[in-house]
Amino acid sequence: MIATKLKLRVYGDPCLRRKSAPVSNIGPAERMLISSMIKTMYDDDGVGLAAPQVGINQTIFVVDIGEGPVAVINPKIVKKIGKVTQNEGCLSVPGVTVAIDRPQQIRLHYLDENGHEQEGDFADLKARVIAHEMDHLDGKLIVDHVNPADRPKVIQKVEAKLKVMTNDKIQNSK
Ligand code: NI
Repeated sequence: MIATKLKLRVYGDPCLRRKSAPVSNIGPAERMLISSMIKTMYDDDGVGLAAPQVGINQTIFVVDIGEGPVAVINPKIVKKIGKVTQNEGCLSVPGVTVAIDRPQQIRLHYLDENGHEQEGDFADLKARVIAHEMDHLDGKLIVDHVNPADRPKVIQKVEAKLKVMTNDKIQNSK
């Protein structure tokens, strides 16, 4: 089995807005998906990628926060401490960064790619990336953290960026 780069879903794709379902069985198909998600994350220079971003509405995400790739399945945040506001971007929402409050520290329960239960404490950037990927599993995007008055302007920027990206793709395929 060879991991393949998956098509990244972008703002406007309904997959990004659905609530993902828990994974009931972790087998070869799920591990293959995880390998392909990791490849997709690296190819797109991301630090995290959630399954809805590749069109799969299952509660899986992958992250690499400087310690190699980690797969997280059926995660639950069981503890949050503190609050930090920082700018955040998203591969599926290009062209903007949004200031978002995230816990400074979280404790996460999850299953790894072998179906083993794991618990970990994560702080700072790690906590932020995980909270961001958890949002994806709930169908939530960074633009939803923008106050309603400023949101249309931010969405306009995203749509303009997507248009440029689509045009570039058409140019490159000619
Ligand atoms: Ni994202």
